[in-house]
Amino acid sequence: MARFTWSEKYSVGIASIDAQHKKLVEMLNRMHEAMKVEKGDEALTTILEEAIKYAQEHFSYEEELLLQTKYPEFEEHKKFHAAFSQKASILMEQLKEGKQILTIGTWQFLKSWLEEHVQGEDKKYSAHLKDKGIV
Ligand SMILES: [Fe+2]
Ligand SMILES: [Fe+2]
Repeated sequence: MARFTWSEKYSVGIASIDAQHKKLVEMLNRMHEAMKVEKGDEALTTILEEAIKYAQEHFSYEEELLLQTKYPEFEEHKKFHAAFSQKASILMEQLKEGKQILTIGTWQFLKSWLEEHVQGEDKKYSAHLKDKGIV
């Protein structure tokens, strides 16, 4: 399973947002690394929990910017974040209750979600934010 390598194709052209996305990629790679060396479930769950928490902070940051600049697709964008957060909380709950274990499939889901969201939904707001003077 390949690591997540950041490249320009993921850039939304806004420095602060790219930096946050890069941090999320780093966190996913840390999780991948921990899986490779077969760190225990507890350690993995902690890493995942941190990544999810950071993702939610990032969502709030984006939403705040999109709201302030009156992004026309604000509500829709917010729904994508909410749907992910809901899935993530269910997953965390199941992990903590021992009903689920962290697998590479979980990692793959997180990676794909981030890749698709950044290149799809996040890129859609690029021009709008740049128009509003956000760099
Ligand atoms: Fe984002
Ligand atoms: Fe987003």
